[in-house]
Amino acid sequence: RSEPLVLGIESSCDETGVGIVRGTTLLTNAVSSSMEEHVRFGGVIPEIASRAHLDAMVPTLQQALADADVELLDVDALAVTSGPGLSGALMVGVAAAKALAVATGKPLFAVNHLVAHVGVGLLDAGRLPDNLGALLVSGGHTEILRVRNLASDVELLGSTIDDAAGEAYDKVARILGLGYPGGPAIDRLAAQGDPAAIRFPRGLSQPKYLGTPEQPGPHRYDWSFSGLKTAVARFIEDCEARGVEVPVADVAASFQEAVVDIITSKAVLACTENGITSLLLGGGVASNSRLRQLTRERCEAAGITLTIPPSSLCTDNGAMVAALAARIIMDGGEPSGIGFGTDSSMP
Ligand code: KG4
Ligand code: ZN
Repeated sequence: RSEPLVLGIESSCDETGVGIVRGTTLLTNAVSSSMEEHVRFGGVIPEIASRAHLDAMVPTLQQALADADVELLDVDALAVTSGPGLSGALMVGVAAAKALAVATGKPLFAVNHLVAHVGVGLLDAGRLPDNLGALLVSGGHTEILRVRNLASDVELLGSTIDDAAGEAYDKVARILGLGYPGGPAIDRLAAQGDPAAIRFPRGLSQPKYLGTPEQPGPHRYDWSFSGLKTAVARFIEDCEARGVEVPVADVAASFQEAVVDIITSKAVLACTENGITSLLLGGGVASNSRLRQLTRERCEAAGITLTIPPSSLCTDNGAMVAALAARIIMDGGEPSGIGFGTDSSMP
């Protein structure tokens, strides 16, 4: 069939997602998040996330089927994230998908979570450009990928060598006493501050890391955010030592500017030097207003066509898993069988 009906399951972190697509058309995207249960710990607790997936999996599945007015036996294929992510969390989704596959006899496709973040772009575009760049920025990943074929040719051009950008937002928000998750809080507060007030460091931007186009340095397209977090902590300590009030909004705005400046400049550099003329922005931090704005500006200046899916498709969800599997099916790809396991550090 040319337009397969695919149900996708996502459970790699704190979102239990079940999405249904027909080919490149989104039918429904049901998501249940356990974020509230992690708030008081200031980070996702794997054990709690796994238990929450177990509670939410069947209701989320039922909600997705009801929303889309689809019977389980009518789907053509099932798909599930098998990595990377939290081991116990992944296992709940994979166990659920295998149970459904065995019970219904439907083919099952195991997919890579990061590639699914890119595959979600299909829901707008139908087909992705041949030589696509993907900038994924979330609490777990900060990566620039070159995608020639979603099923078989995804190349990592650069990534963070320490914290993910969202993680840096969360850690700095904690230092500023803004609560968890910190990204949205810093985004809001930054709007009242001066992004040029404090010059925070841009990680891995020195010539010894960048090199030149002819002789690239060791981290030309990579990022580092741990030094930035330390710089913010030092700035606050220094204010306290001098007995001056911490200019919180300026700190938030200047921190955000440092993150967004280095993310976008390196992503655009990676694209222009690799002949990439289309870029997809995804991940939870793609909701950030300044990241959206500066990526748009710099892509436009560099002649790169930018796609930013709606926020609900940028954060973790099941529709991206289904969309990727649907593309693999339409391209003649084979199902994974039932014997696969989870891989928490899947490349
Ligand atoms: O993709 P996501 O929902 O989960 C994974 O990490 O996979 O991303 C969550 C991350 C958190 O670190 C959160 O602080 C960050 O995305 N985030 C934001 C914004 N909204 C969410 N960071 C900056 N600005 C935002 N508006
Ligand atoms: Zn993700």
